[in-house]
Amino acid sequence: MISTVFWDFGGVFTGSPFHLDDYARSLGTTNDRLLEHVFGRYETDGDHPWHRLERGEGTLAEALEAAAEACRADGIEGFDADGFFKAMGSTSSDERRETAVAKVRELNQAGIRQAIITNNAKEFGDMWRRLIPVDELFEAVIDSSAVGLRKPDPRIYRLALDLRRGRRLPLARMRPRHRLQDQAAQRRGVLPGLVDHRALALHRLAHRLRGPLMAFFAVSQHTGLREDVLDHRLNTRTIYMNPVLRFLYSNMNYHTEHHMFPTVPYYSLPALHREVKGYLAPASPNTWSAYRQILSTLRRQWRDPAYDEPRTALPAVTNADRGSGDTGHTVWAGDRHDGWFDLGPASALAPGLALRVDVGDETYALFRLDDGTLACTEGLCTHGQAHLAEGVVLDCLVECPKHNGRFDLRTGAAVRRPATNPITLYPVEICNGRVISNLQPEADG
Ligand code: FES
Repeated sequence: MISTVFWDFGGVFTGSPFHLDDYARSLGTTNDRLLEHVFGRYETDGDHPWHRLERGEGTLAEALEAAAEACRADGIEGFDADGFFKAMGSTSSDERRETAVAKVRELNQAGIRQAIITNNAKEFGDMWRRLIPVDELFEAVIDSSAVGLRKPDPRIYRLALDLRRGRRLPLARMRPRHRLQDQAAQRRGVLPGLVDHRALALHRLAHRLRGPLMAFFAVSQHTGLREDVLDHRLNTRTIYMNPVLRFLYSNMNYHTEHHMFPTVPYYSLPALHREVKGYLAPASPNTWSAYRQILSTLRRQWRDPAYDEPRTALPAVTNADRGSGDTGHTVWAGDRHDGWFDLGPASALAPGLALRVDVGDETYALFRLDDGTLACTEGLCTHGQAHLAEGVVLDCLVECPKHNGRFDLRTGAAVRRPATNPITLYPVEICNGRVISNLQPEADG
């Protein structure tokens, strides 16, 4: 089962840089001879100027000068950079690139991890990265000129295999989205997720088979339950289903769990359910029972639109249950002095973590950024009212747990859609080892 695909760049998303027959002929030589003068023995990794260029040790100008010199020494006149690069460019085609990009997207959709391992010159970086949406398509780019290693040095492959084994690549070489996710995962003691591809294959099969049943499943998820509440235990239904229906539905019958923890993969939902069911409303014992309840609720709501399906057995979750000092936990602000609230000891909040702070009916989020500074914001995402303290914090950003909008915690600006409206920041300081914040609505401040 394929779990990870590593791509080359040149010759895959561009034409081959090794087929310059026309240009070689125009210089009165052969393709092989020209290539050896420019690239050295490309299948080896040595001290040739082009190899040094691709390891980030030399410059493009030096490599081209050496190539021109080698040509001249071999009696080949007229080699010049313009002609050479034009010849390389002429082998590219948009169609080839689009075909390759479409394949990458297809593999991404199948959950297969993908990265580029490219021997490249840093001078080409801007150019080749503009050809395709690299950051969107690939989890990581291993660029020889950035890592100081080039193929066929086995160490560059080992670096790549670190990714395949679930280890993080050096962060500077990973695109931000994955940096956020991996750091958050590691903070929680979870290996950054390699995908279980057998499970994925089954998921895709189920996806094809369940088409006609989707409406049947979908109606059972939320119908009749409360709207405009953030607690998914009030607006989402978990239903026990037999193994066949569960397979067809990809375990989405654990729908409350799915909404509460959307990053948990579907194949882990039964295990998640076992962990958290004590905190949830009792699951419907089967689909028919759920539908009986839905019909009864809809009948009542027909007569009384304010009627809510009762969830009387919803257990309270205490702060002790939530634990403390970890992302997403609630604290209630302590005493207020001159508009400043004591939010507890500064040492309780490690870098990269967040606390939800409730004061009366208001909710806030307190963050410790990776550089140790604090930020206090309104608690709910301006896009869809999710608690930001349950999001992922890295550097100066928080990523909303619901739709992955992002906010800059230094300015409050929304920096990634779907979030577009900024969040409010509140003054926060450390005073005698305690975090204090002026949690006043802006108008009062
Ligand atoms: S709720 Fe935050 S981005 Fe949608």
